[in-house]
Amino acid sequence: MKKTVLITGGTGLVGKSLSQLLVNKGYQVSILSRRPKKETEEIRYFQWDVEKGIIDDSFMDSVDFIIHLAGENVAQSRWTTTRKRQILESRTRSTQLLHQVLSQKKHRVQAFISSSATGYYGTTNSSKIFKESDPVGNDFLASVCSDWEAAVDEVKKLEIRTVKLRTGVVLAKEKSALQKMLPPFRIGLGAALGGGKQYFSWIHIEDLCRLYLNAIEQTSLEGSFNAVAGDAITNDMLGSEIAKKIRRPYFMPNLPSFLFYFLFGEMAVILLKGSRVSADKIKKEGFVFKYNTLEKALDNLLE
Ligand SMILES: NC(=O)c1ccc[n+]([C@@H]2O[C@H](COP(=O)([O-])OP(=O)(O)OC[C@H]3O[C@@H](n4cnc5c(N)ncnc54)[C@H](OP(=O)(O)O)[C@@H]3O)[C@@H](O)[C@H]2O)c1
Repeated sequence: MKKTVLITGGTGLVGKSLSQLLVNKGYQVSILSRRPKKETEEIRYFQWDVEKGIIDDSFMDSVDFIIHLAGENVAQSRWTTTRKRQILESRTRSTQLLHQVLSQKKHRVQAFISSSATGYYGTTNSSKIFKESDPVGNDFLASVCSDWEAAVDEVKKLEIRTVKLRTGVVLAKEKSALQKMLPPFRIGLGAALGGGKQYFSWIHIEDLCRLYLNAIEQTSLEGSFNAVAGDAITNDMLGSEIAKKIRRPYFMPNLPSFLFYFLFGEMAVILLKGSRVSADKIKKEGFVFKYNTLEKALDNLLE
């Protein structure tokens, strides 16, 4: 019988690719969404409303694995107080809602695999290489990741295997950070942002989806893992590599930081700061990245 994977936020960038990979690998996929789509032969939908604490838990007796991706997009709009609350609670309250169902209903869930982000370490702009054993940072995204992971740790107390993938910037062909960066590069006006020396920890979407699959199938995996390619590059190196791949000049002066703070407020840290993050722990578990260098990733994504 097919194993069933429930994906929260399965309608997003990562969720769509992951659903396809899981279907291709012979899994039955269910998606928990605020706006369920029409069911297909391959994918079933269930509804929840995290803010109101409502969840259709009829999926529970048929699910073998839960992959928790749901969360308000951190780069969608300025971080007002309300927006910050939404970013945090869409992750923590959603996890608590799943915990509530798992603790109250009969189920057969074998593993709970949750997204987290490299933002856990805080944005430092130092050359320190962050490992999973490093402490949480002290900015907004770090506290979101910390609270989110703490909520996942409550699920672990129900004796369910938990894995947390501290994900770097996901590079993909569609709707990803890379696609947002491309327009100025295409007209030869690409430039580094701010100081340009900030680290950019990234992962190719295909490798990220393979990592989720791996977290399902490698039953010895447990705890936090950085989900980054481990290729240490700076924002300036990224710009230069993109320009080279699409055969455009790269000569513009860096765009000043104040411009981004003016446009985006505190959210500008996503662009202007970054941390260098190690992939060693997951590699030691035997995971082999298909795209371990930016060059390979861009060859595939910008072909
Ligand atoms: N993309 C990246 O570069 C990146 C980097 C690091 C970490 N991550 C993390 O990886 C996860 C997936 O990323 P993604 O790029 O696929 O995100 P995405 O495209 O923004 O999709 C996230 C999904 O979460 C659901 N969602 C959004 N707000 C919600 C809310 N208030 N309550 C319940 N569900 C909500 C939505 O599904 P419905 O509309 O169907 O409900 C949405 O499709 C996210 O948690 C993100 O923080 C992503």
